[in-house]
Amino acid sequence: MIKLHDKYFKPFISAAEIEEAVDKMVMEIASDLGDEVPVFVGILNGSFMLTSDFVKKYPKPCEVTFIKLASYEGLKSSEDIQRLIGLTQDLTGRTVIILEDIIDTGKTLAEVHRIFKNEAVKSLKIATLFYKPEAYKKDFKLHYIGIEIPNKFIVGYGLDYDNLGRDLPEVYQIKETQHMTNLVLFGPPGAGKGTQANFLKEKYNLIHISTGDVFRYNIKNETALGMLAKSYIDKGALVPDQVTIDMLNAEVEKNADANGFLFDGFPRTTAQAEALDKLMDSKDSQINAMIALEVEDEVLVKRLLERGKTSGRADDADEGVIRNRLKVYYDETAIVADYYTNQDKFVAIDGVGTVEEVTERLSTVIDKL
Ligand code: IMP
Ligand code: MG
Repeated sequence: MIKLHDKYFKPFISAAEIEEAVDKMVMEIASDLGDEVPVFVGILNGSFMLTSDFVKKYPKPCEVTFIKLASYEGLKSSEDIQRLIGLTQDLTGRTVIILEDIIDTGKTLAEVHRIFKNEAVKSLKIATLFYKPEAYKKDFKLHYIGIEIPNKFIVGYGLDYDNLGRDLPEVYQIKETQHMTNLVLFGPPGAGKGTQANFLKEKYNLIHISTGDVFRYNIKNETALGMLAKSYIDKGALVPDQVTIDMLNAEVEKNADANGFLFDGFPRTTAQAEALDKLMDSKDSQINAMIALEVEDEVLVKRLLERGKTSGRADDADEGVIRNRLKVYYDETAIVADYYTNQDKFVAIDGVGTVEEVTERLSTVIDKL
């Protein structure tokens, strides 16, 4: 992974793959042109690297020149007009091959066609190393294409992000989500999870995702996923993991700019933990740690009975019920804890003490991630 200015990028196309694509373009063009001496026109700044590598590999005599896009302010202050400049050579009767680093919307290409309209060239062909078919909005034919790529921002091999990255010999793709700290918060009933989650989300600017809340929200608002979940709940069946994951995915996408997520109440099984890893991976991110708040059973029972006196929650009032909830919790989490232990991501925190003391312990762990 690399960082340019404020953004993170991941390796996408290796130098070897680029070289292979350039070789392929050279071969196609050389075989189409035969003994004709073409003029290769690179579009600066992006195509300097491609143009250099390309002409070094070109097996026959050729000419090379460059043109550059210049920005002007239009009549309206909001207007940014881009014009190509620098074409000084007489190209009458010549075969011209445009060498582009990337064709995205095709706006630059429209400019190329505009300035070549009045040149009496013999033929004008377009060659581009990278092409984003989903972004391309024009009808101009692309004669030679190196590599088709998805509509995501890339840097390297001539392409920049705010002037950085042009020098990289390989290509990197922007990360879907930027640098995030994602935590799974665990703890038995009464361990103080909710209280601590509130502090942590403020302190670290994390989005707190409680699966219970997400379910209630989707069902209440009758979202498609909410209705689907409800159909299982109404039948007395468990909601399939995929439905839950799809809901979490929607939450993550809603908050793609977040510093990270605090998952609460999920995952509860190995299958769910694996599904969460996959979801995070699809966002170019990961779970950094599972943090468990550990509190002795006797203390939990006391705390919950105390809470039961004021909360009015029936399941907080009966010691037998409380002990059973704790047993279910330990049976459930042991497996998920193993999952994260195997990835070296499990951290247990002593949950006994004042709220501030426990927050302090949690912060020490998080600051080290
Ligand atoms: P167009 O939209 O096809 O005109 O592309 C305009 C210009 O935007 C390209 O020549 C590049 O300079 C720049 N550009 C488009 N996509 C990317 C990208 O993914 N990374 C870096 N620059 C890009
Ligand atoms: Mg360009």
